[in-house]
Amino acid sequence: MRIERLAVLASGGGSNLQALLDSKDIPAKITLVLTDRPAYALERAKAGEIEAVCLDRRSFADKAEFNQRLLDKLIEARIDAIVLAGYLSILDARLVERFAGRILNVHPSLIPSFCGMGYYGLKVHQAVLDYGCKLTGATVHFVDAGADTGPIIFQKSVEVLPNDTPESLQARVLKFEHALLPLAVKLLAEGRLKVEGRRVTVVD
Ligand code: GRF
Repeated sequence: MRIERLAVLASGGGSNLQALLDSKDIPAKITLVLTDRPAYALERAKAGEIEAVCLDRRSFADKAEFNQRLLDKLIEARIDAIVLAGYLSILDARLVERFAGRILNVHPSLIPSFCGMGYYGLKVHQAVLDYGCKLTGATVHFVDAGADTGPIIFQKSVEVLPNDTPESLQARVLKFEHALLPLAVKLLAEGRLKVEGRRVTVVD
């Protein structure tokens, strides 16, 4: 199916969203930015004159109600593909199934290291430092029913420096996130990501 209308889901500052907004060669339009909590990403969407919706998860009776509202909104907005750009809620199985093969996520480590439940934001980089890793990096992957477990599209490694802090490491990894995510979204929109089992290749 053609991918023309993108939704970006976020929970935080939205620098990955901004990288997508600034990219000039994604042949699809970001038509909806949706957050699960108040987040500066909403301000970035408004500045880009894009519909910005905060579905504050705390205002729903339970996860099921929140997930239903999220799915309804994506259908109502005629979304073709979803990009998770620092989104902290786990998507429910029905949504993942409906958008199978059309949901991307960016994670600030070299999956499968330091990912899954509890690994987000600075916690990821603190864990990398605590472990004494010499390399970390950024990963863009397809989203499946698990947490950070879908087929990997791109990875880029980042050297851990002796005097790194979680903040300094995060800043260097983010630079690669901001490069890899727009490229993956472009290729997804162009139908150039071929998935065979867990292997993803770029086709012309
Ligand atoms: C990024 O490091 C992303 O990899 C992770 O959360 C952070 C979000 O940053 N999922 P931002 O909101 O895109 O600035």
